[in-house]
Amino acid sequence: MTTQSTAQEHPGLGPGRGRLEGKVAIVTGANSGIGRATADLFAREGAKVVAVDFVEDIQPRIDDLIKSQGGECTFVNVNVTDRKDCDRMVSTALDNYGDLHILVNNAGTGIRGRVDQLSLDQWQLVLDTNLNSVFNGSQAALPHMMEKGRGSIINTASTFGLLASEDYAAYCASKGGVVLLTRSMAIDYGVMGIRVNCVCPGATATPRLLRFFDSQPDPEAAIAEAAKINRAVLRLGRPEEIAYGMLFLASDEASFVTGHALAVDGGQTIDA
Ligand SMILES: NC(=O)c1ccc[n+]([C@@H]2O[C@H](COP(=O)([O-])OP(=O)(O)OC[C@H]3O[C@@H](n4cnc5c(N)ncnc54)[C@H](O)[C@@H]3O)[C@@H](O)[C@H]2O)c1
Repeated sequence: MTTQSTAQEHPGLGPGRGRLEGKVAIVTGANSGIGRATADLFAREGAKVVAVDFVEDIQPRIDDLIKSQGGECTFVNVNVTDRKDCDRMVSTALDNYGDLHILVNNAGTGIRGRVDQLSLDQWQLVLDTNLNSVFNGSQAALPHMMEKGRGSIINTASTFGLLASEDYAAYCASKGGVVLLTRSMAIDYGVMGIRVNCVCPGATATPRLLRFFDSQPDPEAAIAEAAKINRAVLRLGRPEEIAYGMLFLASDEASFVTGHALAVDGGQTIDA
């Protein structure tokens, strides 16, 4: 087993500074990794959080963690590939907290393989989970945001939405789609007061990535090799380091920032 435990995934998080005081935020993929760190950070910064996931096996569940720290959170078991489920996560925010300011479309998955190796089902699963989910979540949230004339949508793309990677065709296609969907939506909804941005994480030590390392013959060597991708710092990112990028884009501090793809990647995309 690798040495980075999920229980220790937020060592850098301190007390919040009220940067999201009075806001209601939905975070998808919130019980693990980057989504979990984001939901945790948003709650520490004063947001009421609707935490969305379809897997609950990391304990404490994110809502229990947030509540144990004095924050407000409701967990909803939602599959983001299902449009009706996404309506349910939005209605939960409106019913429980009376508003919705921030949507983080973060849930994602990856299946390695070239086009000739992937089955249609594998291709479809990755596109549904990573790209169509952004459409679903946004379509569910936009009526309320348009009515209010404000909102911040943040999508989790990837450095692999900016650069290609071998044997990762569906993932790169889906994340490239997220980057351009983000920019397209930023144009469409900017005049309505809704900002749309994405974060492009570099290789980050989340349960998903750690599971991949554990499946390798020498996990520690695989981590060391992956750390080289983040070429300026030569280490994996931590989930909360990605979450701080999300926080900036979610907050009013980013009121003039839209259509942006924020690389939080330890320098992975500095050069070719
Ligand atoms: N970890 C990395 O190195 C890295 C790098 C770039 C981008 N990303 C992206 O960051 C996001 C989060 O990834 P992570 O590494 O934290 O992974 P993770 O597996 O630790 O967390 C993802 C969460 O999303 C949930 N999820 C997946 N499909 C879902 C669905 N259909 N409905 C509801 N929930 C669903 C999972 O249950 C899980 O809790 C993904 O979009 C991923 O592509 C991760």
